Amino acid sequence: MCGIVGYIGSKSAVDILLNGLTSLEYRGYDSAGIAVCIDNQVELYKAEGKLQNLKDIVSAQKTHIEKSSIGIGHIRWATHGAPTTANAHPHSCNCGKVAVVHNGIIENYKELREKLEKQGCTFRSQTDTETVAHLVASKYAVTKDLTEAVRLATKEIEGAYALCIIHQDVKNTIVATRRNAPLLVGIGDNEFYLASDVPAIIEHTKKAMYLDDNEIVTLTPNSLLYIDSDNNKLTPKIEILPWEPVALSKMGYKHFMLKEIHEQPDVVRNVLSGKLRAIDENVRLDEVTLNQDKLKVLNRIQIVACGTSLHAAMIGKYIIEDLCGIPVDVEPASEFIYRRTITDKNTLVIGVSQSGETADTITAVRQAKALGSHILIVTNRPDSTMAREADSLVPVNAGIEVSVAATKSYMAQVISFYLLAIYLAERASKRVETNDLNKLKHELIVLPQKIEEILAHKEGIQACAKKFANAKDFIFIARGINFATALEGALKLKEISYINATGYTAGELKHGPIAMLDESMPVLSILMNGKVYEKILSNSEEAKARNARMIALTNSTDSKLDDLFESIIRIPDIDEMISPALAIVPLQLLAYYIAEFLGKDVDQPRNLAKSVTVE
Ligand code: AGP
Repeated sequence: MCGIVGYIGSKSAVDILLNGLTSLEYRGYDSAGIAVCIDNQVELYKAEGKLQNLKDIVSAQKTHIEKSSIGIGHIRWATHGAPTTANAHPHSCNCGKVAVVHNGIIENYKELREKLEKQGCTFRSQTDTETVAHLVASKYAVTKDLTEAVRLATKEIEGAYALCIIHQDVKNTIVATRRNAPLLVGIGDNEFYLASDVPAIIEHTKKAMYLDDNEIVTLTPNSLLYIDSDNNKLTPKIEILPWEPVALSKMGYKHFMLKEIHEQPDVVRNVLSGKLRAIDENVRLDEVTLNQDKLKVLNRIQIVACGTSLHAAMIGKYIIEDLCGIPVDVEPASEFIYRRTITDKNTLVIGVSQSGETADTITAVRQAKALGSHILIVTNRPDSTMAREADSLVPVNAGIEVSVAATKSYMAQVISFYLLAIYLAERASKRVETNDLNKLKHELIVLPQKIEEILAHKEGIQACAKKFANAKDFIFIARGINFATALEGALKLKEISYINATGYTAGELKHGPIAMLDESMPVLSILMNGKVYEKILSNSEEAKARNARMIALTNSTDSKLDDLFESIIRIPDIDEMISPALAIVPLQLLAYYIAEFLGKDVDQPRNLAKSVTVE
């Protein structure tokens, strides 16, 4: 969701900006723009739609634009105002001397706009961001100091922002600041980069510093001034970024999503590595700081998350309750934050987030922290806001995920929940026999080979995708621990193919959804050997009796299934408790092949953003 890139140094800025924006494309956007400074004039270039439209505009004037060695760039995911060129960032003020790019939402923009209009400012867009450009310009007119102008402007702004600002009267300078939206400064030799995420700068430098809320940085090619909102000087905390540029290559796959699905066997191995060292050793989670005193008083777990992370959380609930006997509630973060919750110091609150930057989840864990709960974050980004504010951390180590549709990060979250549940069972509960825990550990260790087996035999899934690609709707049914798999399978399909797909607990089908069944409706039953196998089989019979087109995803070799199901996707046998980690793989592939067959933009589906940094 929105992406920022900035550069100041001695190189030409334009390619750095455009390449940086290209590497942020995965976040989801609908317009793009850059601002550069040439012959002491700020110039803006903007386009609606794909970044290629902006690249075409820029390439027509490349020899002129490449003269600038300073610039800021942006991809916008529309919140206030349609995705038009006028609403694209950067935004400017009346005199055109200021350029601003912004991620986040200025909540009091209406009041600010009214005030600024009364002072003579003319607005050219419907965005909240344009108020910042006018506000900074008006502060600069008084202070003649860009850092001070930005500092004073942020005192009047309410909401969330990462901002990069240039002013043509303040040569070779970028001022940047943030509140509740990520921003980092990449450090090179007599040059600096700014970005809302690592991929935008990683090919240039691995040295960087993250800004915290309300901090301001003023960059020139050879100086960095770092202050807080009260004008106190701060000392930069420089970190080495963990990412490898190779993560951003498709490595021969047609789409990042397909590459990321194929990375899952190694992702499982990575998550287990160092944490599950031997079957007869306790699971180690080095960054979990729950000591025995805290564990003794722990009487409840509350998990908050959104989207795919919420589905991983549902599996987490199931496993923790089963292995530890501790009651676990799971709630979408966006619901949790708008009701009276009853978390307290005896509640462990777990936030799950691939990006660690999802606004609703950040707000939810902050609220719980204020009520005294211990906050544990399960995230793929140990450098994120959530991770940095956590009491305990479970880094899921999936590596950078580029495709908007989460696949390998979901796998890593699910595996992390198995480890967390076993960790808690080994320390806080003696409910499950050591032998049974050891069996689960064994199943986790052999899981990568089973995923590899599915990936090596994708033809059946491809054929099934082709057969059902023209369906208008899709129903996924499951029971027990795999209900979350049904929801996640349906989410993957709707996200990238735009087919209306819904997951139901199979037992609920006859309480309403069965009314929708006829010969045009595919129903995919997730039928794993175990406690609920026979039950789902009967629910599938009920659906078949209403002429639905039946598909089975199963680890059963039962030949009776051949009569009931039009298509059968078979997967290797696996313990029911671990089965969600295996069953999701063919569903990711099914969604992928259907979307690809329909010619959809698999890695960047319409309207979606990778990291939803606004509420
Ligand atoms: C997953 O395919 C989606 N892109 C989306 O549901 C995502 O899981 C959700 O926005 C939460 O993001 P997070 O894990 O980064 O917090």
